[in-house]
Amino acid sequence: MLREQFGSGRYVVVRAPGRVNLIGDHTDYNEGLVLPTTIDRDVYVGVCAREDTRVHVSSLNYCDEVEYDLHQRPEVPAANWESYVTGTIEELRLRDALPSGFEMLVYGNVPPGAGLSSSAALEVAVLFALQSLFDIEMDPIDSARLCQLVEHRYVGVQCGIMDQFASFMGRRGYALYLDCRSLEFEHVPLRISDSEHVIAIVDSTVSRELAHSEYSKRLSECDQIVSVLQQGNSTLRSLRDVDTTMLEAHRDALGDVLFRRAKHVVEENDRVTLACQALIDGSLDVFGRLMNASHASLRDDYEVSIPELDLLVEVAQSTEGVLGARMTGGGFGGCTVNVLHREALPAFKTALSEEYRSRFDREPNVYVLSTNGQRELLYSEP
Ligand code: GLA
Repeated sequence: MLREQFGSGRYVVVRAPGRVNLIGDHTDYNEGLVLPTTIDRDVYVGVCAREDTRVHVSSLNYCDEVEYDLHQRPEVPAANWESYVTGTIEELRLRDALPSGFEMLVYGNVPPGAGLSSSAALEVAVLFALQSLFDIEMDPIDSARLCQLVEHRYVGVQCGIMDQFASFMGRRGYALYLDCRSLEFEHVPLRISDSEHVIAIVDSTVSRELAHSEYSKRLSECDQIVSVLQQGNSTLRSLRDVDTTMLEAHRDALGDVLFRRAKHVVEENDRVTLACQALIDGSLDVFGRLMNASHASLRDDYEVSIPELDLLVEVAQSTEGVLGARMTGGGFGGCTVNVLHREALPAFKTALSEEYRSRFDREPNVYVLSTNGQRELLYSEP
């Protein structure tokens, strides 16, 4: 059927995964450290070359399509599915990488708006599909950067690089330890999804309405912190160059709010390093305690949590067999991530559902991460 729709040109199908961040939030745009892992939900893209310069993209999720000439990208609303797709195509066109138009079909099962990076998965899948179709040679880091640029230029979110990097570079069975300053990374074996422990993602189902405006506010607060600290140290570039001693010395100059924002970032970077080591050592108790501390810091110092996420985390943390729980991603809605003993799963689900229903009249969605995914070329026909 797709063949009929796509005609006789070359045809490839790829997928790219969403991600969940295990620890290290609001550190990426401060040149800090993060530890995300891919999830087993993906965006799939099928693409077939055309002989002319028409671009025709259909979304199965939205029963919607967009068609235009490659050289005349249409005006599309920012943060609409088309903006991610046409933005990625436009960035490739600007690099003279697209020899012709194409037919493209997009489908994804990463829950949208849940903070699991459905948009990064979409950008990465579109990019990778076109790279595969037209044999475009591109460094993986540049590829992740291109997708980040799409968010900046076409979606209007000045995000860090974590989500796009994780979707492009994540590997099945591993978490990704990433230094967002040097972009050096390491695949760390994820022994959590063995028979004894599981990672559970809990979707609060609260849509992240404040997320964009509050995200921009945090970005500018971090810029302000750097400006204050630069007065005593002109070589300082970002919050990555700051430690607790330096922070304490500038407590009065920063004032309470900026001090707490900076404290979160500095301490979260330390937690990522410790958590990564704990994962390598198999010390999941330590890993869980770091997750709990991360949540407290995001809630109290960085102030990006909401009562719904706090409740889901509190209930999880007080359930026997749960090693750690925290909100994950940008905040103001979205998901929590939890590490627990497998046998604690039924009690965990019941407790969350009962408490969440009674306090907020909502049902949380629980996804158990039994395996995780990675970017893949699924099919290629010459
Ligand atoms: C969003 C952004 C990421 C990152 C997280 C917070 O997911 O897209 O770049 O900043 O928030 O860690």
